[in-house]
Amino acid sequence: MSKEIDWQAASLTDLTNHISNVHHALLYRKLPLISALLNESFRELWMKHPSMVKAHQLYHEMQANLLQHLMVEETAGFPLIQASEKDKTISLDRFTSTLGDHEKAHANVLAALAEIRGLLWDFSPPAEFGATIAHCVKELDAIEKDLKTHIHLENDILFKRVA
Ligand SMILES: [Fe+2]
Ligand SMILES: [Fe+2]
Repeated sequence: MSKEIDWQAASLTDLTNHISNVHHALLYRKLPLISALLNESFRELWMKHPSMVKAHQLYHEMQANLLQHLMVEETAGFPLIQASEKDKTISLDRFTSTLGDHEKAHANVLAALAEIRGLLWDFSPPAEFGATIAHCVKELDAIEKDLKTHIHLENDILFKRVA
């Protein structure tokens, strides 16, 4: 569906609702699942694959930062954008002054996932390490792909349109 929508032309209300309903919703579903799979994998594998220690820690730091980032967007930035689209006298300065912080948060998430990918066999674990880690890296790969689309919609479209 999103492929057919021209997000340069759509309303900012539709764009921010789409980001929340599709991309944020996916993360709220998948982050706890990946955490549980990674915890189980950690127990099974950390002694055989010591890079698991760093990957497990990096993931949970990334997850905490990312969840806060989503909630900040949903409670501050996105409501302000939607209010100012209805009422042009409402200034977006409180949001546009934070764009650098948003872009930095996005870059940090992608960098953490790239590092986790490097620590976890480029997300292709040897078969002998079992089904749990195989499922875990499949989910990590999927959220990384979705985050690239999500961040493109924010950095390259939403932020440029409000700036
Ligand atoms: Fe977002
Ligand atoms: Fe964001």
